[in-house]
Amino acid sequence: MIKKDANFNNNNNDLMYKKNNHKYQINMSKNFIFKSIFILFLCSIFFGLNLLYPTNSSAKKNIKSGKYLFNYYSCINCHTINAKGGTLGPNLSHYGKSGKKFSWTMKAILNPDRYFKPGSNVVIDGRKYYAIMPKYTYLTGNQVYKIAAYLKSLK
Ligand code: HEC
Repeated sequence: MIKKDANFNNNNNDLMYKKNNHKYQINMSKNFIFKSIFILFLCSIFFGLNLLYPTNSSAKKNIKSGKYLFNYYSCINCHTINAKGGTLGPNLSHYGKSGKKFSWTMKAILNPDRYFKPGSNVVIDGRKYYAIMPKYTYLTGNQVYKIAAYLKSLK
């Protein structure tokens, strides 16, 4: 009787152990899946934020290209920035302080007619101008974005 009991108990313990061992293994793999999902989740947040709020270095690159494009597409012929450029259009040296929105700026570059009736008199910063700015619909959205980033950076 005693022997049998001992055997029974032993077997039972063995089974429990195996059961527990099995459970433990299942928990491990569940943990692994959850951890992987969590890491993927963090990565997607990181890359998502990076797209929404570009890092400082990419913002600087955009501003630099914007400055180049501003000269390349002859905006400088009519707009003065830091004492260089023409005077047919408003001085943009402190455009970043003007409070004009980024999207407004992009639209104003692509198609100024949207805001200023061609040939009419417009007053900007207390000075009168003839609305003669050409359309820049041939620029890509990316180019206009960079020019706007450059203008907005001028404080
Ligand atoms: C032929 C002259 C001329 C050229 C070239 C020109 N602009 Fe203009 N710009 C003007 C004038 C004049 C205005 C006033 C509003 C208008 O004419 O529509 C103006 C207005 C603007 C404004 C609005 C300023 C404000 O404070 O409201 C922005 C921004 C601007 N120009 C950016 C540019 C950019 C960027 C380029 C080149 C891609 C450019 N301009 C090329 C003459 C010019």
